[in-house]
Amino acid sequence: MFANKQAVLNAFRFRHACKSYDAAKKIPADDFAYILETARLSPSSFGLEPWRFLVVQNPALREELRGIAWGAAEKIMDCSHFVILLARTQAAMQADYEEKIWGSVHGMPSETVGMIQKFFKQFAETDFAIADNPRAFNDWAAKQTYIALANMMTAAALIGVDSTPMEGFQKENVEKLLLEKGLINLDEYRVSVMAAFGYRAGEPKRAKTRQAVDDVVDWIE
Ligand SMILES: Cc1cc2nc3c(=O)[nH]c(=O)nc-3n(C[C@H](O)[C@H](O)[C@H](O)COP(=O)(O)O)c2cc1C
Repeated sequence: MFANKQAVLNAFRFRHACKSYDAAKKIPADDFAYILETARLSPSSFGLEPWRFLVVQNPALREELRGIAWGAAEKIMDCSHFVILLARTQAAMQADYEEKIWGSVHGMPSETVGMIQKFFKQFAETDFAIADNPRAFNDWAAKQTYIALANMMTAAALIGVDSTPMEGFQKENVEKLLLEKGLINLDEYRVSVMAAFGYRAGEPKRAKTRQAVDDVVDWIE
């Protein structure tokens, strides 16, 4: 046992898509390192970790992003930490990357790497049918980044840090900007989703609302 259920549920209720941040309050470095660590420790399909996290603290870059990220506009200048989650492209997830992850990172012997490579090929070509469409493949990688995103937001809420997940941006223009700044290699990564972290400037304008459990859960017994 690491936490009690009520504490976790309290954190889920505390977490909301924060709309305005207190610019005067900054997340201590060790607290943000903890949030990033939960991203790094997140699970991913086949353990491929197809992500990278850009922590954008540079005010000039934040200002440029503001104009092409409508969903982030009201948060990006005032939040403490602003993260762009990148997802690997298909071109950057070939044999050498697979060998690095399964062999070097996860320490699998080469015959196991060979087996899992065959298995992953079948998954990509047939099971999920993403192999013949680079966008579909990158979207599959982007799905994995959302797991890290969710974990970061929950971890943040558990220590009283607010956050906002954001898809409100012009993906192509953000990628172009990051390319111009030399911050991304588009053959290797594409932009998946963004997140702001910090401390709320005021209480949320409306209470949390969700569908009833019976509307979203079916038990098949
Ligand atoms: C993937 C994703 C993208 C989102 N994009 C934005 C966004 O660009 N700007 C924003 O203010 N909120 C954004 N939201 C917040 C949602 O609108 C919000 O989570 C939802 O309305 C539920 O409210 P709550 O998070 O406060 O409980 C996004 C949420 C998710 C999960």
